[in-house]
Amino acid sequence: MSKDQNIKRIAVNTGGGDAPGLNAVIKAVTISALNRGWEVVGIREGYNGLFLPEKFPDGGLINLTHEVVKDITPMGGTILGTTNRGNPLRFPMKAANGTIVEVDRSDEIMSAFRRNKIDALVAIGGDGSLSMANVFAKKGLRVIGVPKTIDNDLENTVITFGFDTAVGFATESIDRLHSTAQAHSRIMVVEMMGRYAGWIALNSGISGSADVVLIPEIPYDINIVVDFLNRKFEAGKNYAIVVVAEGAKPKEGAVSVIEKEVGKAERLGGAAERVAKELQPLVDKEIRTVILGHLLRGGSPTTFDRLVSLRFGAAAVRALEEGYSGVMVALNPPVVDYVPLDQVSNRMKFVPLDHDTVKTGRDLGICFGD
Ligand code: F6P
Repeated sequence: MSKDQNIKRIAVNTGGGDAPGLNAVIKAVTISALNRGWEVVGIREGYNGLFLPEKFPDGGLINLTHEVVKDITPMGGTILGTTNRGNPLRFPMKAANGTIVEVDRSDEIMSAFRRNKIDALVAIGGDGSLSMANVFAKKGLRVIGVPKTIDNDLENTVITFGFDTAVGFATESIDRLHSTAQAHSRIMVVEMMGRYAGWIALNSGISGSADVVLIPEIPYDINIVVDFLNRKFEAGKNYAIVVVAEGAKPKEGAVSVIEKEVGKAERLGGAAERVAKELQPLVDKEIRTVILGHLLRGGSPTTFDRLVSLRFGAAAVRALEEGYSGVMVALNPPVVDYVPLDQVSNRMKFVPLDHDTVKTGRDLGICFGD
């Protein structure tokens, strides 16, 4: 493809829940673009900086310069801000009769891209943000997606950045729970984020030597968990670690939800509490629950996440230079390549039941509740 794409000014944004590595991507995009003589602006809070001017009296765009991005690679969060609320394609607004209706505001955003002379967008996000980015690509904007999420639930990339950092923290947390559980002869039930996919719970549960790992892909039978734990206790073990993905559900049961409102993603929560309540009458041990929650999203990215983030950001700019649009950069070792956003949007990557990590867990004697 031609190297002259007539690009003068690009934008970058971060959408959905934050993940360690966002700032490293922003830095790589900015420096790679500035080195090509392009200007770079960051859009604040996803697309909000473009279509909700009332929220940003100082302006919804930030000029990204060498100075602005100089020290941000190791920083958690995102210097641009983000949001996982108020999808602009289904934006919640009050109708005349007072009810909340969902309105598509994508055309306003397309006009704002034109008004601000933005030739292309690097959209960093998970499935929701990349599905939105795909809509803008189809409306004619040049768009490259970058796969972010601690949940690792995006299709067509081996990994998303943020996941390695989250799993590292989760594993260290499980390590710490062993000693207190043993000291008190307790069962510790620890809940991991991950939405409807069990990647964080699976990888950390196995790495942290949990006794039981419950993931959404394998609905559990509490009686199987009880029999397993009681056998362990009879054999002399005095404590247990039960890792529960927030999306875990019992056989013939549903995921545990704490919030569902118009225009907002379903919020999961309560899975560990439910497992603890189900277990307590059936085992002769005290039970405590721990919810790692947003701790999994914080902190400095691991070296792995930093490097993947920097590689993704630089690859996104190369993709624009090479004339790509409507694609996501993806890690398919040993290369970073480009995958059509159509093959990513509105899909989720679940743990396959025959995944070798699941088999490894079973070989190690870990109970999956089935
Ligand atoms: O997608 C990332 C994630 O952290 C999920 O694991 C979790 O279910 C969700 O975001 C939590 O969102 P919020 O920050 O709105 O509570």
